[in-house]
Amino acid sequence: MSEATGKKAVLQLDGKEIDLPIYSGTLGPDVIDVKDVLAAGHFTFDPGFVSTAACESKITFIDGGKGVLLHRGYPIDQLATKADYLETCYLLLNGELPTAEQKQEFDAKVRNHTMVHDQVGRFFNGFRRDAHPMAIMCGVVGALSAFYHNGFDVENIDHREITAIRLIAKVPTLAAWTYKYTVGQPFVYPRNDLSYAENFLYMMFATPADRDYKVDPILAKAMDRIFTLHADHEQNASTSTVRLAGSTGANPYACIAAGIAALWGPAHGGANEAVLKMLDEIGAVENVAPFMEKVKTKEVKLMGFGHRVYKNFDPRAKVMKETCDEVLTALGINDPQLALAMELERIALSDEYFIKRNLYPNVDFYSGIILKAIGIPTEMFTVIFALARTVGWISHWLEMHSAPYKIGRPRQLYTGETQRDIQGR
Ligand code: SDX
Repeated sequence: MSEATGKKAVLQLDGKEIDLPIYSGTLGPDVIDVKDVLAAGHFTFDPGFVSTAACESKITFIDGGKGVLLHRGYPIDQLATKADYLETCYLLLNGELPTAEQKQEFDAKVRNHTMVHDQVGRFFNGFRRDAHPMAIMCGVVGALSAFYHNGFDVENIDHREITAIRLIAKVPTLAAWTYKYTVGQPFVYPRNDLSYAENFLYMMFATPADRDYKVDPILAKAMDRIFTLHADHEQNASTSTVRLAGSTGANPYACIAAGIAALWGPAHGGANEAVLKMLDEIGAVENVAPFMEKVKTKEVKLMGFGHRVYKNFDPRAKVMKETCDEVLTALGINDPQLALAMELERIALSDEYFIKRNLYPNVDFYSGIILKAIGIPTEMFTVIFALARTVGWISHWLEMHSAPYKIGRPRQLYTGETQRDIQGR
């Protein structure tokens, strides 16, 4: 629980003074409780929630100035290199890394929920084959709410916890089937003898004609690390969407579908796809300089750069870049887009325009190059992000439901018409 500091901010308003309590967390800035501003007939005003703490949480801490990202206190670079994705899932859900026994039990639980109801497979047929994979994901993940609604009691912790397992387990199956549907190949069912990342890549790339398809362990390890690097990120737009939808008591599968929708935007999770399209458009190193001029005149944004919170390096981008080097070297791939990306980064980090605006590479800048090396098509990049972030979304949903909460209902500054009557009728 946050600590009342005994400190207060004093707001002077219309000749009166309003005491606003200040609370401290364990890390990060103190917060000013502004709810009493309403009693003085005012709202606070913070479009885009630039300086608003919408909730209290123990899951993830970010220090944007220092480029720090902790999940339950553990730095992201340690989790990405010393733990696997399912251990990180367990940590986000339960607050501690699993013991060997707990890991074995958790992995088995997830493995036993990777299948989806056979009717779910029929939803895909309503989409054109060239539908964007994120449009399909919004639909099919939301459709799970139809299969897990009757009898679901959001007040029942057991119902909430099995929902988390089902979503972590089933979203990879639906993500792989989304890809299969768009390339016209038959769905490949999950297997219980493969690890989480292996199972996903197996469902993505195996075909009935290739019964002995084996997932390259280098790719499985890279995929697992990419999942970990995307698992959670505090109160970002899609997580805040899931919390807001969840605050009405809505079905959790529908809430996760809302998170998928929010993530799709190019300003958020859609950036990884946009980075590859941008690199394609630039084409060659000699085109970087003129492209940067278009960025400075604001004709285009440098996708994969900048962040609402990080005004320093995104620690995930550092690990992603190292992984990029490792995977491409291990696979013997000499991808010119990596050289192009590194040249873009070099120029940006030495250019006053970017330095002045604290624009650094974020998690999306290098991820696409690795995903391409793994064989994932560009349009599937944000689906991968949604798959990995499902655990973050559901962890925040669980945390919100584990304590008393109010329905989220922001107000506004109204600048429309004052009251008027319909004339002449
Ligand atoms: C993710 O919130 C999270 O935690 C998200 C995420 C997560 O894990 O959940 O980290 C994942 O979404 C990462 C971000 C991916 N998005 C992109 O890479 C898209 C490109 N980036 C921008 O759209 C932008 O940087 C945002 C949206 C990420 C952040 O925008 P802000 O905080 O609202 O910053 P801003 O728009 O106020 O920018 C400040 C200045 C502006 O210039 P001035 O008006 O001061 O002259 O920086 C400029 C912006 O024009 N700017 C950029 C830029 N990003 C900001 N200029 C060029 N290229 C960019 N990418």
